[in-house]
Amino acid sequence: MLVNGTKWLDTDGNPIHAHGGHMLQYDGYWYWYGEDRRDNIYVSVYRSKDLTNWEFRNHVLTTESKTEPIRVRTDLKLKNEDEETPVAAGADNADSTKRRRYKINLERPKVLYNKKLNKFVMWAHYENGRNYLCAGCAIATCDTPDGDFVYHGSFNPFGYMSRDCTLYQDADGTAYFLSASRDNADMHVYRLTEDYLNVEELVAKLWQGEYREAPAVMRREDGKYFIYSSYCTGWAPNQGKYAWSDGINSRFSLLEDFGDDTTFRSQPAFILPLDTEQGKQYIYVGDRWSGSEYFSSSYIFLLIKFDEKGMPYITWNDNFELDPVKGYTEL
Ligand code: DGJ
Repeated sequence: MLVNGTKWLDTDGNPIHAHGGHMLQYDGYWYWYGEDRRDNIYVSVYRSKDLTNWEFRNHVLTTESKTEPIRVRTDLKLKNEDEETPVAAGADNADSTKRRRYKINLERPKVLYNKKLNKFVMWAHYENGRNYLCAGCAIATCDTPDGDFVYHGSFNPFGYMSRDCTLYQDADGTAYFLSASRDNADMHVYRLTEDYLNVEELVAKLWQGEYREAPAVMRREDGKYFIYSSYCTGWAPNQGKYAWSDGINSRFSLLEDFGDDTTFRSQPAFILPLDTEQGKQYIYVGDRWSGSEYFSSSYIFLLIKFDEKGMPYITWNDNFELDPVKGYTEL
């Protein structure tokens, strides 16, 4: 049994640090990537066959990760060299100001498998570790889902600001990068190049001036697309909303409420689609942030339900079971 909003432990008995993350299914496993701000770590990955028992696999991106330029001109900086070095690695204490200034800030890491490169491609939100003025995105790649990713640097897509972000891979393999732009006022949707290493076209600017962030995308089996998002209130939760469309490049609906006025004290991270014996299920995965004590932030997994008009909603339940075959069961 899993309990929403509590500290989840990996199979070694350590807290799972996969905040603002994403899940990728590959070769019989689910890989759960996310922010891990301890010591010199940026992104960690866990894997599971049953979606309940998570094995820590690797700190896939750290201040010491290998950097390598790609054809896109990027800033390869992975730490603020002019700042003091962090406290000893492995100290499981809170993220101190000293370490925070030494490290840059990588948020909302998402990973997709790219068939053309036969590599795993990560995109994340990049900031310089001192403020949120860079508003960039960052790319990293790896030959395996849980190896040491190579950092390819950060940039501003077509020169735009790019903060909260996500990746979405369509049924035909085309990938999209969504990110909050113009100081979070608008949500941009970019189609990626075939190798997922660059943006190819800005296909939409959604919800101009509505300040949506934390986007999460799903395509329902009937072909309808849904984008879930939060409003901008720092680490504090707010009313979640969704919009739907018949195509990722098509017109999206107006925004409708999703969850209660704090989205059950969570902010969207990603949607987990499952083919279960109960039929297709879509799980809302959110972060319950603790801005003052980042490391006590927890996770919310809720089954997305659909009303008589086929529109999504979620209800609260503390306890649940999650299994790839049996699906999500509220307890
Ligand atoms: C809300 C964003 O969704 C988070 O990723 C993080 O950037 C916080 N704001 C910082 O206040």
